[in-house]
Amino acid sequence: MNVKIGLQLIGVAKKRYRKQRSSQNPIIKIIIPVLDFLWKSITFVKRICIDENFRSIFRMQLLNSKNVHQTTSLTYMDRYPDIFSACREYFKDKQDLKILSYGCSTGEEVITLRKYFPHAHIVGAEINKTSLAKCRQLPVDDKITFIYSKDHEISKYGPYDAIFCMAVLQRKPHYIEQKGISSLKDIYPFEKFEQQIMKLDEYTKLKGLLVVHFTQYSLRDTMVCSKYEALGDYNQNDYLSPVFDKNSEIIISPPPQSSIFIKVNN
Ligand SMILES: C[S@@+](CC[C@H](N)C(=O)[O-])C[C@H]1O[C@@H](n2cnc3c(N)ncnc32)[C@H](O)[C@@H]1O
Repeated sequence: MNVKIGLQLIGVAKKRYRKQRSSQNPIIKIIIPVLDFLWKSITFVKRICIDENFRSIFRMQLLNSKNVHQTTSLTYMDRYPDIFSACREYFKDKQDLKILSYGCSTGEEVITLRKYFPHAHIVGAEINKTSLAKCRQLPVDDKITFIYSKDHEISKYGPYDAIFCMAVLQRKPHYIEQKGISSLKDIYPFEKFEQQIMKLDEYTKLKGLLVVHFTQYSLRDTMVCSKYEALGDYNQNDYLSPVFDKNSEIIISPPPQSSIFIKVNN
């Protein structure tokens, strides 16, 4: 009930604010944007001071924006059970696997993978230093390694039998949906996705698996697509945000996008 009243009040305040913005009174026209700017600045500074993760994301975008994909760190244990089970089945006759969790956030994905692959060497790569610090505090066995996500670090431990790149190759999916944005060119261009897929391809062994899930683009549109065949019909139908083509334009009724790919040639 309180939430409902709160939302109504916010709605009324927003309407008044819009009305005042279009006011002809020059004082109101100046004061409202200045107050708005001050309010946003104070909120920003407050978050920077008290929210460690927000600080870390801000630093990352400021200093490393070229390499950052999805910035939010949402994750949880056993998030993709069907996909993990299918990969375990694919490798049922192989024990000594090397697995990369690319964008492992706070480590839940790596801990989950250990349950599916008890004997594998699992490498978790993360670009957010606050999340990586949390990973490094987890009580893990000595065949789990957490690394800062840099090409030379990732390739040092590779090549990999399986790479899981889950909910990483996207940007602000909910914001894009809410705002009805139809081109990703300025936010997350296709070329950035494609370059990352090509990097992951370099780290993937022949007959290995490249698993990409919750992405705004399709691996099928990239230059390495001919090297890959889909495993089963595991797809991204549970991805409810908009998806885009190789021109970074929205696809209104996208065909199902596969999630698990076998590397069939080099
Ligand atoms: C939404 S989380 C996904 C976590 C986990 N993979 C899952 O699906 O539950 C996305 C993560 O990707 C990380 N990330 C973004 N760009 C990255 C990069 N270039 N290398 C490694 N991690 C990256 C973010 O910091 C964030 O922790």
